[in-house]
Amino acid sequence: MTIPARDRLKIFGRLLGLFPPGKMIDLGAGHGKFSMIAADAGWEVTAVDARTDRNVPAPGVTWVESDVREFDVTGFDVVACLGLFYHLTVPDQIDLLARCKGAPLIIDTHLANGLSTHPLSEEVEELGFTGRLYQEGTGLLSSWGNPQSFWPTPDSFHKMLDQAGYNLVLAVEPWYLPDRTFFLALPGPS
Ligand SMILES: C[S@@+](CC[C@H](N)C(=O)[O-])C[C@H]1O[C@@H](n2cnc3c(N)ncnc32)[C@H](O)[C@@H]1O
Repeated sequence: MTIPARDRLKIFGRLLGLFPPGKMIDLGAGHGKFSMIAADAGWEVTAVDARTDRNVPAPGVTWVESDVREFDVTGFDVVACLGLFYHLTVPDQIDLLARCKGAPLIIDTHLANGLSTHPLSEEVEELGFTGRLYQEGTGLLSSWGNPQSFWPTPDSFHKMLDQAGYNLVLAVEPWYLPDRTFFLALPGPS
């Protein structure tokens, strides 16, 4: 199934528009289109990707070539994690969420909800989370260094967010793919 790219950009723009412009980090920025939308809306954007092949210089966007697992993600008013989370392993997912330190998070991800058309493993348990493993390729859109990634079940995804302090999570409906949508994760008192 093709991902309707224009719809993704629109959804992202509307979610970001809930916040006053400030500093945003775009993790796994890839083609940089989400970064450019943010910059056009007045955000000061840091676009991070391990691969530089697709980045396009744009006013208001500072590109950084880095593994997100090593980059300091603190000090931003909004963290965008679009098309990246499902390319990480469980420990890296937990670590990344913890390092966001409660900054509002816009996250667009596949989940292992049983509706995926991707080849996934049987259900596995890792570090207290349930999900399925995805065998990564080597293309421009794939993971960086980890041959397998973890797609949590919806329950485990919410549990992971909750444990990182994100206890209010809004999902965009309808999901734009059977197993994928945008989430807005907000921190707050439990
Ligand atoms: C599926 S693409 C998503 C691109 C864009 N954010 C989007 O949603 O259309 C995944 C991107 O994440 C990058 N990536 C994957 N693992 C990464 C890592 N550990 N550190 C930095 N970038 C990574 C890839 O190079 C690729 O550009």
